Amino acid sequence: MAVSIAQVSAEHHHSAFGLFTPAPRLSWRFNATTVKNWQQVSYDITISRPGSEEETYHVKSSDSVLVPWPSSPLASRERASIKVRATGADGFTTDWSSLNVEVALLHRSDWSSCAKLIGGPAQGPEPKRPFLLRNTFTHTATGSLARPARLYATAHGVYEVEINGRRVGDQIMAPGWTAYQHRLYYQTYDITNLLQDGENVIGVQVAEGWFAGRLGRPGVANHWGERPAFLGQIEIGGEVVCVSDSSWEYRYGPVLLSELYNGETYDSTLYDPTWSTTTPKKSGVGHAQELGFPQAELIAPELAPVRRVMELKPKDIITTPSGKKVLDFGQNFVGWLRIEKNILGAPGHTLVIRHAEVLEHGELCTRPLRSAKATFTVGLGGKTQGLETKFTFYGFRYAEITGYDDLSLTDFTGVVIASDLRRTGSFSCSHAHINRLHENAVWSMRGNFISIPTDCPQRDEKLGWTGDIQVFAPTANFLFDTSAFLASWLADLALDQQDAGGVVPVIVPNPPKQPDGRMKRPMAVWADCAVITPWDLYNTFGDIKQLSDQWGSMCLWLDRGLPRDERGFWSTDYPQYGDWLDPRSPPAMPGNSPTDSFLVANAYLIHTTRLAARIGSLLGHKAKSEQYTADAARLTSLFLREYVTPSGRLACDTQTTYTLALAFNLLDNKPSQQLQLDTARARLSHLIRWDRFRITTGFAGTPLILRTLATHNMLPLAYRMLQERDCPSWLYPVRMGATTIWERWDSMRPADGSVNSGQMTSFNHYALGSVCGFLHEVVGGLGAAEPGWRCAIVRPRPGGTVRSARTRFESPYGPYEVEWVVDKESKMMTTVCVPPNGRARVVLDGVDEVVGSGEYVFETVWKGEGKWPPAAIEGPQRNIVEGHFIP
Ligand code: BGC
Repeated sequence: MAVSIAQVSAEHHHSAFGLFTPAPRLSWRFNATTVKNWQQVSYDITISRPGSEEETYHVKSSDSVLVPWPSSPLASRERASIKVRATGADGFTTDWSSLNVEVALLHRSDWSSCAKLIGGPAQGPEPKRPFLLRNTFTHTATGSLARPARLYATAHGVYEVEINGRRVGDQIMAPGWTAYQHRLYYQTYDITNLLQDGENVIGVQVAEGWFAGRLGRPGVANHWGERPAFLGQIEIGGEVVCVSDSSWEYRYGPVLLSELYNGETYDSTLYDPTWSTTTPKKSGVGHAQELGFPQAELIAPELAPVRRVMELKPKDIITTPSGKKVLDFGQNFVGWLRIEKNILGAPGHTLVIRHAEVLEHGELCTRPLRSAKATFTVGLGGKTQGLETKFTFYGFRYAEITGYDDLSLTDFTGVVIASDLRRTGSFSCSHAHINRLHENAVWSMRGNFISIPTDCPQRDEKLGWTGDIQVFAPTANFLFDTSAFLASWLADLALDQQDAGGVVPVIVPNPPKQPDGRMKRPMAVWADCAVITPWDLYNTFGDIKQLSDQWGSMCLWLDRGLPRDERGFWSTDYPQYGDWLDPRSPPAMPGNSPTDSFLVANAYLIHTTRLAARIGSLLGHKAKSEQYTADAARLTSLFLREYVTPSGRLACDTQTTYTLALAFNLLDNKPSQQLQLDTARARLSHLIRWDRFRITTGFAGTPLILRTLATHNMLPLAYRMLQERDCPSWLYPVRMGATTIWERWDSMRPADGSVNSGQMTSFNHYALGSVCGFLHEVVGGLGAAEPGWRCAIVRPRPGGTVRSARTRFESPYGPYEVEWVVDKESKMMTTVCVPPNGRARVVLDGVDEVVGSGEYVFETVWKGEGKWPPAAIEGPQRNIVEGHFIP
């Protein structure tokens, strides 16, 4: 396989259509190759810009990721054809690989001064009825060559456009969710092929969405405004032919209600298939009202939009004990149902679809949804074939159908939606339940990456909780290309943080109208996202610009937002979430972990301060970096004095505290370090064996515990915990049939399959799926050795009963892959694939070498890393969840 380029890209843009950067940095990924040690020494770029001669650039450089734009800056609307080829040290030059880019509107002045946000009369208070907007414009074809036509569009709320009766684009919940007071995405659509000669019709549907809808609890609406509205500009051949203004018609359509938590209500008798065609319209039409131009910065996003990404067929029709009909899709997912046929019913008769993730006592269990109704109600009497929910989504596996008796498996299809990120990482091994656990994390990521990283997709939240993504980001960055997605969200985090005086809010975008400011409270682990997540992003994608863009936010958090006592530790004036959802915390008090929440907070404080010191030095902020280094050293001494005995016992004796102390190297700077380390390791081992390998960590300890065990020579314990199946453990939900990651270790109780009585019982929360980092790096043996994966580390560490694994990551350089298998004679065969221009350090028993591109097979002997299975400590068995000893 000769060396070839798989893909050229501009910045982190998902397609390069609608770029928001005049000088986009370019990258090219290579295809897998068998060519050994291929390193690029130069590259050629040609750029064709309309009306000028082709530019060619020859650059002697080994860089193939985010190289500088070589030409003069591009202008708004400008298009360019780019070609790239790379030459290696062996003299081989790849074929050309091309990319077409088109710039969006870079400046506010690119929008016509006549373009306004338009909507209908004020409605209130909530929820608001979605509405339709419509206008006509003329298009005169000139010659045979169609002039490119573009629609630039956004909304306060969410919108969908049709032109001449055909859907524009395939985005869902556009424009997406941002800190709307600061940044508002707009979309660029190519509408050239939708236009007809003569009169054309544009029709827009608008709903309240996140902008004006109810968010969070206690459920206040109108956080960014009370008037949903649309802004659009149509250009043909660069000439503005239509903008949103008061000449547009306004009226209601068939959607009676659409609300983020409660769902949608639709009256099929009101559907008019010609509403966005040239058929003349008569009754019920008013004029749109102009509502000014958006105050926020208008941004063409780099991240991929939310789209339909998959379809699922129901697996079963269940008749519940009370006689209800329920569709079971066999998979918990996020999206909605499509009705596949015209369901007959007299006007006034309704079809009701209620969604839930689980059944309890055989019936649909909606208690975990809290106040969210998650219901799609369809008034029958008109067309229902092809009908779907439009402006909200549900998290569900089960759908209860009432108002239609003749139910068959083909009547409904499950439509899965997600931010359509490129899948980059995969993992599988010889252990079926571990594979299901990994698959569950992928599903939970898919379902919670809906424009922003959310906590859960079903109940009255669907919010951008910072702590959840802080713990999950390393896993997320491996599974999908999150570079643009998380960078954009972090930009909002920095802006919301400024609004909160430096405090990083616990949810981003932070709804401005919270009655009690609860979401702006300083909270360790959650707010530490400001430092840890950009660092994780940098490690995966290697973009120093993304790191420097967040530097101000990191300093603001550590210097001003974080409330400290006179010693520099966390002030105890504010409550902490601490090791949130430790399995021992009672259902009604999810933050009530036996682990001291201030110990957790201060451990994270030292970790983030050290990271900030490292980042500062990388970015050239020498003085600041030195200050953070000194701060971290001082805080570490303080930590030792406050929480650690001279021999290494911690003030709070839990799996999480020892994990944090070891993972964050908090015991390191003492002469007695070896004693302290030995004690901490022994104590962690003791607690795990005492708890019979069940987990007793929450959000703070879970992402770190298995890796920490692996780093500190306790690999068998890590595998034993990973393979535990009793509650609480990672495989307990798998044993109970979970198809996504649960919020609580016991969202469903082991005794009778009933649902935990607490408020935090989502069945689709990715945080505890952060264990996948361990699967990828330790079990699979694949991780980044240098930021951006220029060099990988390959170090698979078999253990437990796992006998083989295959891990693959599509890095910015191309695919890295590790496949290992251990046979009965303990012979270990490891196959490693490295992409062109990449390298890997391979560490196996008796092997430690760096290899370049190509495929390599290593045959070693697997000696194991300790006794399997490790022994539990005998004694009375503790019921961790109930907090008592089992007689
Ligand atoms: C969310 C969590 C979040 C937590 C913090 C919950 O309601 O669902 O995932 O991090 O609150 O308190």
